[in-house]
Amino acid sequence: MNQLPDIPKHIAIIMDGNGRWAKMHGLPRAQGHRAGAESVREAIDACKELGVEYLTLYAFSSENWNRPEAEVAGLMLLLEKFLTSKLDDLMKQNVRLHAIGQLDRLPASTLAILNDVIDKTNNNSSLTLTLALSYGSREEITSATKRIAEKIKDGLLQPDQITNEIVSQHLYTAEMPDPDLLIRTSGEMRVSNFLLWQISYAEIVIFDKFWPEFRQGDVFAAVAEYQKRHRRYGGV
Ligand code: FPP
Repeated sequence: MNQLPDIPKHIAIIMDGNGRWAKMHGLPRAQGHRAGAESVREAIDACKELGVEYLTLYAFSSENWNRPEAEVAGLMLLLEKFLTSKLDDLMKQNVRLHAIGQLDRLPASTLAILNDVIDKTNNNSSLTLTLALSYGSREEITSATKRIAEKIKDGLLQPDQITNEIVSQHLYTAEMPDPDLLIRTSGEMRVSNFLLWQISYAEIVIFDKFWPEFRQGDVFAAVAEYQKRHRRYGGV
């Protein structure tokens, strides 16, 4: 399967433009999110095909709680339906589900389904699909800082022992490598509080199209672009 050289190990995606896509088609925003769920399937299939090991999707930001109550409820319901209907495929595709963010803020029913799918797919080993839910990077870094401070207070760590590695280990993403490739749709040139620490060296590829228009071929195109770029990590 892994025919192309230099496949990114970890792809992260900011899925943007569901609302604008819906507006463009004269549809309610909820329809845009529903169409966006189809694109999520496409992204997973493409990553499976390429042999990508980690796919992280920005599904709901900390700031998204400020949207109208009905939209938030619709998104949670869509997520529940997606997880329930996708479980069989995830098992067949050997995909492990993982989630990052302030998960305790999710509605109880959403959290229950999420945890159930995480448990059931726990031994799958081809692709780790991580959903960032109620996620904000500054909150993640702040909470890591608090936990490190607690360890210092308890005498488990000395200030001069704090390294980049120690900080990484206290982030929600402790168990995964940093993203190699960050994709964003909708043409916006922003990182929107997503994995700020982790994308330090990621290649960024922006698509002008809205997320519901995103297809497998777009993942292949982004990976081809990634492969063209010379990655120097600040060296020569
Ligand atoms: C951005 O569109 C997208 C989101 C707020 C969340 C992403 C959600 C999905 C793709 C739905 C399904 C997700 C899963 C995991 C099943 P926007 O509403 O910000 O678009 P706009 O900027 O055009 O208003």
